[in-house]
Amino acid sequence: MLIEALIPSLRETIAGWRDEGARVAFVPTMGNLHEGHLSLVREARRRIGSEGRVVASIFVNPLQFGANEDLDAYPHTPEEDVAALEAEGVDLLFRPEEAELYPNGRESQSIVEAPAALTNILCGASRPGHFRGVTTVVAKLFNIVQPDLALFGEKDYQQLAVLRRMVADLNMPIEIIGVSTVREADGLAMSSRNGYLSEDERHIASGLQRSLRELAARIEAGERDYEELLEDGRAMLELVGFEVDYLELRRADDLAEAGSDDHALILLAAAFLGRARLIDNLLITI
Ligand code: PAF
Repeated sequence: MLIEALIPSLRETIAGWRDEGARVAFVPTMGNLHEGHLSLVREARRRIGSEGRVVASIFVNPLQFGANEDLDAYPHTPEEDVAALEAEGVDLLFRPEEAELYPNGRESQSIVEAPAALTNILCGASRPGHFRGVTTVVAKLFNIVQPDLALFGEKDYQQLAVLRRMVADLNMPIEIIGVSTVREADGLAMSSRNGYLSEDERHIASGLQRSLRELAARIEAGERDYEELLEDGRAMLELVGFEVDYLELRRADDLAEAGSDDHALILLAAAFLGRARLIDNLLITI
């Protein structure tokens, strides 16, 4: 596996592959890789084939962290990450320093912003500016790598929706692929932030997905008073020890409020357990 930290040498390598006719699949990450990330890499290889090239990136993007968030504490496991990507047959890892991506400083970077209707709700409501940071860095990475396809986890469902919208609105010739969430045996969605959980919190954590399943079962059984249902869901989560940030039912395609005529729905939740902010979601078709 090649490891590049600088944009010009990365471009040169990828241009060489393109001259040979290879297509490129791209998996952007912030490192501290777990099975969820590795499933993106495997899906990238499956789709691009043995003739294609798989590029991954690791960059803990300061632009997408708020002032009171966990940027400084964000877990770094560079050696394990390199070994895991190498074992999966990744062709190239792009691992830039902050100055390579933001040479004029974070504050004076041109930004890319998706519509507020998608970015100011759910995680965007409690993390102002978060999605602007994500779209800005992903647009830069797309311009640097120029992949044919890029893969993102469905655990960050809103991020996936925001990035699909950015690519469509800005006519980026990149296919965005969402990959199913990888879960621990008890249903907890894999996340770098699970490492913040104490042993007791870890036991409670799987209750997030369990609660979403219970609520989904009620919707599938015909319940349509969504406000009452969500109130019950929030109470259920608080009761087992979560501090609920949001629990919402939305339309699966554009994340607008779900109405009684909608059939493709998604339950989305964010909740704190101690210092860990966990997110999860569940698609429902009725
Ligand atoms: O999902 C993530 O890890 C990050 O938001 C991403 C897409 C790599 C951008 O920094």
